[in-house]
Amino acid sequence: MNMMSTLWQGAGRRIHLQEVGTRDGLQAEAAFVPTEDKIALVNALSRTGLAKIEVTSFVSPKAIPALRDGEQVMREIERRPGVVYSALVPNTRGAERAIDARTDEFNLVMSASESHNLSNLRMTRAQSFAALSEVNALARQAGAAVNVSLSCAFGCPMEGEVTGVLDWCARYVEELGVRGVTLCDTTGMAFPTQVAALTAAFRARWPQTELTLHFHNTRGLGLANVLAAIDAGADRFDASLGGIGGCPYAPGASGNVCTEEIVHALDLMGYDTGIELPLLIDAAGHLPVLLGHDVPSQLLKAGRRLDLHPLPADFEAIRERAMART
Ligand code: COA
Ligand code: ZN
Repeated sequence: MNMMSTLWQGAGRRIHLQEVGTRDGLQAEAAFVPTEDKIALVNALSRTGLAKIEVTSFVSPKAIPALRDGEQVMREIERRPGVVYSALVPNTRGAERAIDARTDEFNLVMSASESHNLSNLRMTRAQSFAALSEVNALARQAGAAVNVSLSCAFGCPMEGEVTGVLDWCARYVEELGVRGVTLCDTTGMAFPTQVAALTAAFRARWPQTELTLHFHNTRGLGLANVLAAIDAGADRFDASLGGIGGCPYAPGASGNVCTEEIVHALDLMGYDTGIELPLLIDAAGHLPVLLGHDVPSQLLKAGRRLDLHPLPADFEAIRERAMART
């Protein structure tokens, strides 16, 4: 491949980035991030050009104490036109809270793996589907959009291979008529050829349905999986500022793919993410202080590809010595 074809691979194709750091990220943190800091973080993210922000989750505060302030955060953020503000909803109690807080899009959650669904949501998958059918009806009455996230779609840390993923998609797309489906790689078990096959199969069957891919970088395959999905027709990804994140009820879970790393890579390749990378990097830079620890983002440490370093202090002397030898 020559240099020009590498540069133009993306050819301005639009890729939508959806921030999940304030949900998938903060749910995994031991320390409670103060409500006003969460609101300020969402407001900063809103200004970067992200397509969608998963602001919080309306789950049991006993299950996820870190997000017990979901209503207040959702109510008090500044809504920027064009940005979709979503929240994770597991049951009808969560739907009532989401409606109350004026959530644009409900992200219904269930796992493609029975073991993970029981561990995470304390229901069988059949019970989840019944509860989420009610949530879907409530969301529609309230005029909110509906997306469903299928956890463990590429493998389960307790069961191994997971089958029947497209059958669950069919139930949500064809029976419930959801706007979008997110295939989640909850513990980083996905690999590029598997991702390409599932993405292509979904796209071929439901070309009108919004498809999101949600990867965790647990085994270092996150960016490779994103690129494989794009080649197979995907144009929408969840990612987390700083690369934080993980499901506390999935053993071995670790951070999501990192938003600023994905945007940096896609920018270089000529894709159009609509995101102002410096604003994103600036927001990510506040995370270590906010969370009290370092974050996985390699880009925060290394800087962008063309953030150059100064020459060595004795560079002129080195050059003069080298020239004198010729
Ligand atoms: N929001 C707030 N409170 C909720 C709630 C919700 N969506 N759903 C249930 N509750 C409360 C109930 O009111 C009840 O409260 P009480 O003990 O004070 O009476 C309590 O939680 C138990 O309710 P129950 O319906 O029996 O739930 P459960 O204990 O079987 O748990 C879930 C089921 C789905 C609520 C819980 O497992 C959960 O929230 N899981 C989400 C985990 C998660 O977010 N994982 C990471 C994202 S993938
Ligand atoms: Zn996740």
